[in-house]
Amino acid sequence: MTDTQTISVTVNGETASAAVPVRQNLVDFLRNTLGLTGSHVGCEHGVCGACTLEVDGAMVRGCLMLAVQADGAKVTTIEGYGDRAAALRAAFIDRNALQCGYCTPGMLASALEYVEGGGGADRAAIREHLSGNYCRCTGYQSIVDAVCDVIEGESS
Ligand code: FES
Ligand code: FES
Repeated sequence: MTDTQTISVTVNGETASAAVPVRQNLVDFLRNTLGLTGSHVGCEHGVCGACTLEVDGAMVRGCLMLAVQADGAKVTTIEGYGDRAAALRAAFIDRNALQCGYCTPGMLASALEYVEGGGGADRAAIREHLSGNYCRCTGYQSIVDAVCDVIEGESS
């Protein structure tokens, strides 16, 4: 087996080609090769959710996916959500739902998945959906408030 493989990935609408180490995970490729440092690395074991990003329409753990597995895929990171996440970004700020911000890119990705999936303003369901994203600062209350605000705003 060779140590590197050339991949072509469309990230936030732009196609990038690069030779990557076959054992490199997707989030390290995005951060170190493409300079997209919004996706954070916490546990590197799929537990904390800091690396959550979108691949071909599904939210995935960037630390559990190899860069070579993303060959030909369409990847969206926090830098590329644009208007899709505008309401959530504003609500997180209004509700003081971020402090250090380390969890925020992954938290927004998972919240976006919940909102776009038609989830209701159900605090237990939101907590369940976000349970794979760890926040050490906020206690989650304000994050759930922000998600509820967006859902209630969209439904009113
Ligand atoms: S860094 Fe990927 S889940 Fe923690
Ligand atoms: S805002 Fe600091 S970890 Fe969530």
